[in-house]
Amino acid sequence: MQRMTLAFRNSSLFFFSVTLCLCGSNVFAQETVSFHREIRPILQQKCQGCHQPAKLKGDLLLTSYEGFVKGGASGGSFVAGKPEESTVVKHLKGADDHSLMPEGEAKLPDAQIALFETWIKQGAKDDTPEEFKRTLVTKEPPTYKKPAAVTAMAFSPDGTSLAVAGYREVLLHKPDGTGLQARLVGLSERIESIVFSPDGNTLLVAGGSAGRFGELQFWDWKKEKLARSVMPSFDTVYGAAFSEDGKRVGFGCADNSARIVDVNNGKQLLRVDHHLDWVFGTAITLNGKSIITASRDKTLKLCETDSGALIGALTTLDPTQPSTSFRCLVRRPKADQVLAGGEDGLPRLYTGAVAGGAGGSLVRTFEKIGGRIEALAFSADGKTIAAGGAGNSAKVYGTDDAKVIANLTLPCSVFALAFAPDGKHIAVAGLDGKVRLFTLPEGKMAREFVPVPLTGAPPKP
Ligand code: HEC
Repeated sequence: MQRMTLAFRNSSLFFFSVTLCLCGSNVFAQETVSFHREIRPILQQKCQGCHQPAKLKGDLLLTSYEGFVKGGASGGSFVAGKPEESTVVKHLKGADDHSLMPEGEAKLPDAQIALFETWIKQGAKDDTPEEFKRTLVTKEPPTYKKPAAVTAMAFSPDGTSLAVAGYREVLLHKPDGTGLQARLVGLSERIESIVFSPDGNTLLVAGGSAGRFGELQFWDWKKEKLARSVMPSFDTVYGAAFSEDGKRVGFGCADNSARIVDVNNGKQLLRVDHHLDWVFGTAITLNGKSIITASRDKTLKLCETDSGALIGALTTLDPTQPSTSFRCLVRRPKADQVLAGGEDGLPRLYTGAVAGGAGGSLVRTFEKIGGRIEALAFSADGKTIAAGGAGNSAKVYGTDDAKVIANLTLPCSVFALAFAPDGKHIAVAGLDGKVRLFTLPEGKMAREFVPVPLTGAPPKP
């Protein structure tokens, strides 16, 4: 579905630009530079990490044309018609005592700086389409008229918070669901992963806005401060996972690639293109030397993190066992085993790597859940797993004996699962936007709550 929209969007843009080029060569002396198609993508990839609602460097918001016009601490970003007098051009060139932007990175290529100059010279017009404007990000926190589907969730390792994905934000709740602690509002509309770093200090939020950008947000969550935002792609990113030392993060993309970035500076360390379809899950092995990737192309692959060389596939070793289109992947805490699942509803546990061998192999499959698997989780001690999905159900199993510990029935599809650090509760959420806490091993519902603050809701009778 998402992919079709994307293809359609690209082709209509392509058509649009071809038409413009034709007019340009006949009528205008110089081709018109488009804010929407040429300037905005540069702002998105190179500038929004520091000039966005959650990180307003220099008091400058570069997520909309209006923010760009308004400018920052020293006034408007540009003077229409006069690139030489425009603050932004001075910053892009590092001229006249203006610090070079993007800060701490290489100067933009001359051709890109020239685009800014030409666009300003041509009057700095806003050609953002109306349909796009509605989704532009402002400084205001999101408001909700009804609960929003919950797409990701995680308990902090110290057990003091439950982080729940909302629309364009993560909501920190008391672990027993009795109150909202904080709202971490960012840029990405859709959040696909919420993961705490192994030391528990950093909260990684990964996702993006379909067809526009993918983003990794690194939060100093106890201070409610965005430490870093990295925008590695032009589409949502999936299945983010930390390396055991917390220094690197792997993730999958809709362009079929899997990548690794350095947590300290956001630089891309690796990009691999071993899959034929979207990559929905990643796991970096304990020693940090390999990354396992799960794709919709029905394969799990293992490759070297430093060279990107393909080591092999994780296979069932049994030709009678068909594979499935994978939707998620998680690594067992402190072990080289991964749990994967997808279309056929069967959770599968694999060894991540066979010593000296090519890839890994299937250890066991677990009892099928009803419908496609959309979420998987390990308990902190690794001894218990949970799977949930489209069939309005979730199951909790013993990792090593595959016994079903609890059968949970939900009124909607499950998109997110998280074990409390003590293993005595599991949080389950999905399409209806409510978080439900179940006790374990009983599988009894202890509490149900809506994680987002609702406005304009009718008063309770
Ligand atoms: C790593 C963070 C970072 C990135 C990336 C970044 N900036 Fe900045 N920017 C800052 C900081 C910090 C300031 C305020 C201090 C200063 O003016 O040097 C600033 C200030 C500015 C200002 C001046 C605002 C004012 O009114 O004083 C402009 C214009 C600007 N940035 C444009 C850009 C553009 C355009 C890009 C992308 C090409 C970009 N920045 C990328 C950190 C960043």
